[in-house]
Amino acid sequence: MLNFSAKQYRKLLITGGSGFIGSNFTRHWHKNYPSDRVIVLDVLTYAGNRKNLTSLEDKENFRFVQGDICDYPLIDELLKEENIDTVAHFAAESHVDRSILEPDAFIKTNVLGTFILLESFRHHWNTQGKPENYRFLHVSTDEVYGSLKADDPAFTETTPYAPNSPYSASKASIDNLARAYYHTYAIPTIITNCSNNYGSYHFPEKLIPLTCINILLGKPLPVYGDTQNIRDWLYVGDHCSALEIVINKENPGETYNLGGDNQVKNLDLVTMLCDLMDELAPDSPVKPAKQLITFVKDRSGHDRRYAIDATKIKTELGWIPQETIEGGLKKTIQWYLDNKDWWQPLLSREYKKYSHKVYGS
Ligand code: NAD
Ligand code: DAU
Repeated sequence: MLNFSAKQYRKLLITGGSGFIGSNFTRHWHKNYPSDRVIVLDVLTYAGNRKNLTSLEDKENFRFVQGDICDYPLIDELLKEENIDTVAHFAAESHVDRSILEPDAFIKTNVLGTFILLESFRHHWNTQGKPENYRFLHVSTDEVYGSLKADDPAFTETTPYAPNSPYSASKASIDNLARAYYHTYAIPTIITNCSNNYGSYHFPEKLIPLTCINILLGKPLPVYGDTQNIRDWLYVGDHCSALEIVINKENPGETYNLGGDNQVKNLDLVTMLCDLMDELAPDSPVKPAKQLITFVKDRSGHDRRYAIDATKIKTELGWIPQETIEGGLKKTIQWYLDNKDWWQPLLSREYKKYSHKVYGS
């Protein structure tokens, strides 16, 4: 474990801290280390929402900066002014479907933006005399490994990269850059490759929140292709605890795979959500909700199966995900039931235009 004494608090820059995982992580960190200084940098795209961090806004050691990770002078200034020792990098364009429609933003933010962050951090770390306790956490995805067949073993940290979408290709390229910065310049980077997350504050266009919200609105539940694609689901709180452990570990320069050991076919997942919603949301307009399941055109280049082998972090660092899929889905559904004020305003005209592009009429 890294040596931060009682008086020596961390100073974190959390990029993309107003998005789904970034905001869960920011709250998680503040809860466990309330004296640490936390700076969230977020440009607030459609996926970023200032309301995600309302509970922290009045804390003295919290600061929100609206800005772009591609803005080198801004990053440089923030690292220096706040004397940042830890970067937790979540900011990204994160949705495969959007990367198929408009890949440009994925190259700009994910590739160029991460390069700028790494360069800025390199400069800052050198200027500060290369402190041993500085860290740059690059939060990445299992999608960089490509697609598995039904009987293939799960992805390990040594599985060759084979990205299939503009999104996963952009993440793969910057995983390589973060790795290269460690090997070339000794910049203390750590990379995590995580499977599909679910939980609170998840933007409505991704499969789980989309299904919950559409059930509440009595709208069709779109399932792509032959519906048998498999994803390995991890509750977002378990992802946050894994990231905390890797930030605190002694040696940088490593990669860790993170997953929940929950491989589920898409149709089974949507059916499970329908059954749980029938139980938890007695007022939803269509019952049983299963009637709303609708088979739609497949996503282009749709990866068949993802599965994560998380043995390395479990054995080396003792991380164990706590949430079962049923328990995690129940918590998630309850959150969407209790927080209509959060998601209703997100179903804007822009959101409807996006939905129309993906699903047609
Ligand atoms: P998200 O889309 O919900 O949030 C992304 C955040 O980044 C938003 O707040 C957005 O405003 C911000 N952002 C985008 N471009 C920016 C820019 N140029 N400058 C500053 N901020 C910018 O994404 P998420 O699902 O929370 O994912 C967070 C990270 O975790 C991403 O890097 C993603 O690749 C990775 N990841 C996600 C999952 C998942 O299941 N969601 C799984 C594994 C890895
Ligand atoms: O695997 C990790 C990745 O998980 C992250 O890197 C991404 O940032 C995150 O968005 C997520 O990507 P997916 O493409 O897997 O997430 P999504 O929720 O869009 O889709 C999950 C599965 O459900 C996928 O097989 C596609 C399918 N799907 C999705 C939507 C939106 C449907 O069948 N219908 C839909 O309407």
